[in-house]
Amino acid sequence: MSFDVQGKAALVTGANRGIGKTIVEALLANGAAKAYAAVRNTDSAGDLVAAHGEKVVPVRLDLSDAASITSAAQTAGDVELVVNNAGILHTASPLSDNAIDTIQKEIDVNVLGLIRMAQAFAPVLKANGGGAFVQLNSVASMKSFADFATYCASKAAAYSITQALREKLGEHGTAVLSVHPGPIATDMADSAGLGEIADPPQMVADGIVEALRTGDFHLFPDTMAKQIGGAYAGFAEAIVEANLMEA
Ligand SMILES: NC(=O)c1ccc[n+]([C@@H]2O[C@H](COP(=O)([O-])OP(=O)(O)OC[C@H]3O[C@@H](n4cnc5c(N)ncnc54)[C@H](OP(=O)(O)O)[C@@H]3O)[C@@H](O)[C@H]2O)c1
Repeated sequence: MSFDVQGKAALVTGANRGIGKTIVEALLANGAAKAYAAVRNTDSAGDLVAAHGEKVVPVRLDLSDAASITSAAQTAGDVELVVNNAGILHTASPLSDNAIDTIQKEIDVNVLGLIRMAQAFAPVLKANGGGAFVQLNSVASMKSFADFATYCASKAAAYSITQALREKLGEHGTAVLSVHPGPIATDMADSAGLGEIADPPQMVADGIVEALRTGDFHLFPDTMAKQIGGAYAGFAEAIVEANLMEA
């Protein structure tokens, strides 16, 4: 399903910094009419409001707080594109003392947060003609990196849920896009010690606009992502994107 951001109302979680902020700017640069900046602290979207005026509407949303998501979905009743970008990464291997605590927090935000977003916004997108739902997954959805393995497990689970959403939201006419960046130059990449090999967030944001236009399900936007996406392409087409339940 193809989706053009021109003239559309969008909502982006984690819009105040990193990849999310760049996505808001790319959507507006490509003609989006409005972007709800869904953030934990609405003051943190001040830069975006200063730069883009009333085209940016800050709205409070915490992925671990279902009520805040329901409330944001009521506020953003005209939304046609939802980008669930916000996420957390803690460095823990399965043998770290904090592994259990860490994975519980990452699952709450990165996986349960996705489910909460889908449940709250599916009816809004449907009522507005279908639209599109974008989920920021990772190359870590396909490959575990041992020193932040709990994060990788959460992103693998989020990718699995995204595949199910492709089918379920597709029944409403909603396009679903699963985005799988490698290291991208943000606070998160710095915290994982990946800053030196990171590509710019603009590659992710521009890739999302283009993949929505072409109607792809998977997006591998940067240098490492393209390497992993190239190796994964055959499996993606033959298994993930195929309907194996048909005779
Ligand atoms: N950077 C990478 O190398 C990379 C690679 C692959 C995938 N990704 C994914 O891309 C997405 C964006 O990553 P990033 O690098 O831009 O991260 P980042 O720089 O660490 O920014 C994270 C964003 O998520 C928000 N956030 C954190 N917890 C939240 C919660 N409970 N509810 C709502 N918002 C919350 C943060 O808001 P506050 O300012 O309030 O903390 C911030 O806006 C994430 O899903 C990440 O897993 C990143």
